[in-house]
Amino acid sequence: MITVFGSLNVDLILPVERLPVAGETVIGGGYSMAAGGKGANQALAARRAGAEVRMVGAVGRDGFAEIALAELETDGVDVSRVARVDVTTGAAFIAVDGRGQNQILVAAGANLEARAAQLEDTALRAGDTLLLQMEVPAAENGRLLARAKSRGLRTVLNLAPALAVDRTTLARLDWLVVNEIEVATAAAIVGCPADAPEAAARHLALNGIATVVTCGAKGALAIGPDEAWRIDALAIDPIDSTGAGDAFTGAFATSLDRGDGVAEALRRASVAGGLACLGHGAQPSLPWRSAIEARLATLPAARRV
Ligand code: RIB
Repeated sequence: MITVFGSLNVDLILPVERLPVAGETVIGGGYSMAAGGKGANQALAARRAGAEVRMVGAVGRDGFAEIALAELETDGVDVSRVARVDVTTGAAFIAVDGRGQNQILVAAGANLEARAAQLEDTALRAGDTLLLQMEVPAAENGRLLARAKSRGLRTVLNLAPALAVDRTTLARLDWLVVNEIEVATAAAIVGCPADAPEAAARHLALNGIATVVTCGAKGALAIGPDEAWRIDALAIDPIDSTGAGDAFTGAFATSLDRGDGVAEALRRASVAGGLACLGHGAQPSLPWRSAIEARLATLPAARRV
């Protein structure tokens, strides 16, 4: 069982020819609306990858709440610990350019009301997995992480967006998952100067923080205390990379939760991340286990580095 403590948003997605620079107005055509939020996306990604999943977070009492919860409910994620609060449901404003790259602004709203206390201790069972991101209050992440660690859960934090966390939080993780930008933030917390992603990940691992770095079309690497692996990315023509990191992280956590080793988890995650780039929006394009397994053989196994 995977518990995801994190954000639920409604995404307003606008395709544009190119992303704006600061102070610039760029005009697109029509926009679409879909459920999103890194927490909800990773919960759904894990569910579709084959895990039993529980979502803990907060939405408002507005119409957006139903949209934010819809896909989770349809696909069988347990949303009974998602609180309803008197603040508007989180929303994200996403521009996507012709190469599938995006720019995201998030109105956190109700996500800032998510509390670790929404989950009782008896729901934290040894051997299960706790999956966190950075779109809910960092202090609440820290509280739930401390309780989960003391009760024997596997713990995974996706440091997205790249915000400062305390060193104690990093020390309580089994795996930290970051992209090439976020890894620099994490490494700085343990006193590593700005460095290339692999060097930063090695520095984190030397400090006891096992780290996965996703590198887009270059694949990903995992560096733990006693093993290091590299995996390629799927060869694809991306349409929209929104949610690719969430698909990767959800599939990675699912594989670990099932008892797979890191190399296998990395391979499944890379396939899931690639497949998520083949459709528009975050949640609509998250792949199912059958689709991930159908593409597994096309990706060479992870190699030791
Ligand atoms: O990772 C993609 C997600 O980031 C979007 O769904 C958006 O809601 C933001 O949280």
